[in-house]
Amino acid sequence: MTAATSAYAAPSAIRFADDAAAPGSAPAVLGRAAPRLSWQLPPLPGGAPTAHRLRLTHADGRTETRTTASPEQVRAPWPFALLPSRARGTVEVAVQADGRWTPWSDPAPFETTLLHAGDWRARFVSPRTLGAPHGPAPLIGRSFELPAEATRARLHLTSLGIHIARLNGHRVTDEELAPGWTSYRHRLRFRSHDVTAALRPGTNELTALLGNGWYRGKLGGAGERAVYGDRLALLAQLEVECADGSTHVIATDGTWHAHDTGVLADDLYDGQTTDLRRPRGGPGPVDVLDIPPGRLFPADTPPVRPVAHHPAAPPTRTPARALLYDFGANVVGRVRLDVRGEAGREVTVRHAEVLEDGELSTRPLRGAAATDRYILAGGGTETLDSPLTFHGFRYATVEGVAPEDILRAEAVVLSSDLRPTGTFDCSHPGVRTLHENVGRSMRGNFLDIPTDCPQRDERLGWTGDIQIFAPTAAFLADCDAFLASWLRDLAAEQHPDGTVPFAVPDVHRNILPAAAAWGDAVTVVPWTLYERFGDRDTLAELYPAMRRWVDHLDRAAGEDHVWAGRFQFGDWLDPAAPPDEPGAARTDKDLVATAHFARSARILADTARLLGHHEDAARYARLAADVRTAFAETFATPAGRLLSDTPTAYAMALVWDLLPSPRQRATAGDRLADLVRANGFRMATGFVGTPLITDALTEAGHAHLAYRLLLEESCPSWLYPVTMGATTMWERWDSMLPDGSVNPGQMTSFNHYALGAVADWLHRRVAGLAPAAPGYREIDVCPVPGPGLAWARAALDTPYGRAAAGWRVTGDRLVVEVTVPPGAHATVRLPGAAATGGERVGPGEHRFEVPWASGDGRRPASIREAVDDAALWTALGEVLVKEGAVPDLAATFPLAARGFDLPPERLAEVVLPRARRDRVDRLQEALDAVLAGE
Ligand code: BGC
Repeated sequence: MTAATSAYAAPSAIRFADDAAAPGSAPAVLGRAAPRLSWQLPPLPGGAPTAHRLRLTHADGRTETRTTASPEQVRAPWPFALLPSRARGTVEVAVQADGRWTPWSDPAPFETTLLHAGDWRARFVSPRTLGAPHGPAPLIGRSFELPAEATRARLHLTSLGIHIARLNGHRVTDEELAPGWTSYRHRLRFRSHDVTAALRPGTNELTALLGNGWYRGKLGGAGERAVYGDRLALLAQLEVECADGSTHVIATDGTWHAHDTGVLADDLYDGQTTDLRRPRGGPGPVDVLDIPPGRLFPADTPPVRPVAHHPAAPPTRTPARALLYDFGANVVGRVRLDVRGEAGREVTVRHAEVLEDGELSTRPLRGAAATDRYILAGGGTETLDSPLTFHGFRYATVEGVAPEDILRAEAVVLSSDLRPTGTFDCSHPGVRTLHENVGRSMRGNFLDIPTDCPQRDERLGWTGDIQIFAPTAAFLADCDAFLASWLRDLAAEQHPDGTVPFAVPDVHRNILPAAAAWGDAVTVVPWTLYERFGDRDTLAELYPAMRRWVDHLDRAAGEDHVWAGRFQFGDWLDPAAPPDEPGAARTDKDLVATAHFARSARILADTARLLGHHEDAARYARLAADVRTAFAETFATPAGRLLSDTPTAYAMALVWDLLPSPRQRATAGDRLADLVRANGFRMATGFVGTPLITDALTEAGHAHLAYRLLLEESCPSWLYPVTMGATTMWERWDSMLPDGSVNPGQMTSFNHYALGAVADWLHRRVAGLAPAAPGYREIDVCPVPGPGLAWARAALDTPYGRAAAGWRVTGDRLVVEVTVPPGAHATVRLPGAAATGGERVGPGEHRFEVPWASGDGRRPASIREAVDDAALWTALGEVLVKEGAVPDLAATFPLAARGFDLPPERLAEVVLPRARRDRVDRLQEALDAVLAGE
């Protein structure tokens, strides 16, 4: 083989799909007998790859090599025999192009975990007398002897409730909140840890502290507890090989003991209370629970870990004299303090995302007390930490200890530890902050499952929120395995009639209705994973669930294909909805529902075709076409106005291609543009319309208006929260009102990623880095520069390698730069030439330059054109305000809308329809001076 190699470099970045190890750590930990492999190619000047070769080296040194005549490099199938449990080895990759082979890659080490139910000797054990629901958190443990040094030890662990395991007093992992939250009734995750270094010859002790977590703590806004059961339990199996050749299995069974601890109370919503004086209570017995291992599954996604530590600024005092810490950003995790104080002193830490009148604003937390308490042991510095809970906060007050006795205060930031992949930057500081806030909200809400919010008595896997946000998430981090795991829960919890729960895991068990945009997560999220990561496996796995959903909609809609008259969330949180009625949107709910039906049917038809289900493909393509026709017949006029004359309605119709005639599409695009202008570039969309509106405007040829929306700062807008100091995305456009008070609505979170879905448009259309074939094998580079930005760029670590696109305006030139990774291609469509097919380029760096004029300098021919010129309109607005025609600039837009088609020389008459002629003339004279550039 070496002889046949060439000057090629070796493939790199070998990755196993579903690797459960934290990013960057080796070996990969695999829960599959036939793992999928991806790698990145070196530059191959000889041409495209034609084959690849994998070399598997087993732990005993045996090697096997398989050659596959396929260019595949993303999620390539495993060509060897199925791996057994506890297998170890390495894999190397070589690739052939132009008849020549690359050298072997570096070896990628892996091990498999327990792959079969029969691998388990351990039984679930639960404290018999201790560990009652409102009592102290129990510890379960036992000691054991080892005759010699351990050479290899793996601890396989899970629990009912959350656990913190220790070997000889040391935590076995920095994983937090293990085993995470899955649909426990169907799937309970276990994780395998390398604990070799923690063992010693002689006596060892393995313990696990058990917390209520999602299993037995409060869950959902109704304050329900013990949703899954009222007994906490541990399952642990420690497998040890010693230097003397002996092997040992220490597994939970009836011989283990339970103990009381100083953790007097723990709850994810309410917080933790810890008495640091209390020693471990005397041993009590455990019961072996009759839980078959069938529900167990090996971890298929990286763990939740501390991903950052934010030191607090020096504390200040609130008006009520409470000691206040500011951690600089709204994060998810815990406050950790080093304090000193005498034994018995009680320290209380309260959390909030924002301040109101200088005090913690805790009302938005609703039923979540979010309070950690400690009773000090005294006698030196003590670290206060509450690892059986988490909070969403930027601020915390600390009571019970003087500031000089707090030696350190930091926020420990928790998140599923996903590999960051995408970046975006641009010349506008507000947009840059907006993008950072989207990333921070993703991190805070990707805590084992994708949640709506991380702070109040909710924190649920709301399907609608991730349906909207998945494309953005897929750019920011490698969340393929994370979302695929959640989708398995979704499929497991789908009702037999095809209904998808509102939230997954499903805590609203008895509520049945199907809701558009929420249930559609079952089609949209797998499709997104396919589009962004090339993950065809999850699509195939979810296919039956996708079909059940669409079949359900088909039945619900009936003959006329209009999904109407049922419960819907609709365009949730339309800014026009009253604070306590978030579903009272302007867009008709049946219209929203039917549009989603059409979209899901389309995705299902495409999926069926891709997977080779030909009959299904034809059937669902027909269904999609029928629903589209029904949508247009029911909700659109022949000319293209929609029954709900709202931005959300037009955005759906345009982006999802629901209007059959070009005339309808043209009208809809122009009407959307006028609605956006008439609303003064403030947002008028809720969860459904927000991710679509900028794309709809861009596609309809009104990208400059999408930019106006993006850069608007008055409320409601994307940048309004930024002007208010937000460090995360808010649930509502106005979670905080302009006067600094908190929105009076029941549901007011300051950390909700849904409205941040606009970031996907920033990546794809502003910077111009869009996927055109699965996993970005083909990239569509069609950047849309617009007013207010001098440059923008995005970069992404795609499965093929690093791709980037960006542009900058220099004088009268536009420079576009593109990076294409080996194995991929890009089609570059430059502004002005976008309508042409574009230029297809291969791997490497590419630079393009075209003439660029930011404006045509023409005098506006209509009031509409005047509105579109932001600087001109502001100047005209100032005159209108000064002359008393309008109270403020915002008021000019709806007035102008009455005469968009008229020349600006008639603006005064449009604004003052009933005023006396001389007043109108005087006003127009002042406006004309502005129009003439005086
Ligand atoms: C959540 C949302 C969710 C919604 C369902 C809210 O309480 O926070 O984000 O999607 O309920 O309508």
